[in-house]
Amino acid sequence: MKKILIINGPNLNQTGYREPNQYGVTTIDQINKNIIEFSRQKNICVEIFQSNCEGKIIDKIESTAKEIDGLIINPGAYTHYSFAIRDAIVASRVSTIEVHLSNIYNREEFRQKSVIAPVCKGQITGFGEKSYLLAIYALI
Ligand code: DQA
Repeated sequence: MKKILIINGPNLNQTGYREPNQYGVTTIDQINKNIIEFSRQKNICVEIFQSNCEGKIIDKIESTAKEIDGLIINPGAYTHYSFAIRDAIVASRVSTIEVHLSNIYNREEFRQKSVIAPVCKGQITGFGEKSYLLAIYALI
């Protein structure tokens, strides 16, 4: 069975409660349940990890790289400036897809640049919780 790791970065634990106009009203727990159900249907083993800390995200990528077939990452605000997470993705050599709940290209200028996307297979942005399911589908 193929294994996919999903990483959510800072503040994504607040999804469903924070800025619902941007990120929707579906709670992170419900989003995760939907991801697990979708993965089961597709015969994929999925692990979901969230941290507000850059170093913990990097540690997770490093410690699981050899065990996973694909990585889906929503780096939150780290998207726009974390060269450290970018380097960890490159070092891992794992096929990675960047996802966002909101469409980062129709928001503030500082959100319109991702330093992570250039080292990913692709980026899915703006489809709310469905962004994660589309990313799983893309990895499959
Ligand atoms: C986000 C977009 C980022 O700019 C923001 O900092 C987030 C969420 C998204 O999923 O739309 O925390 O990654």
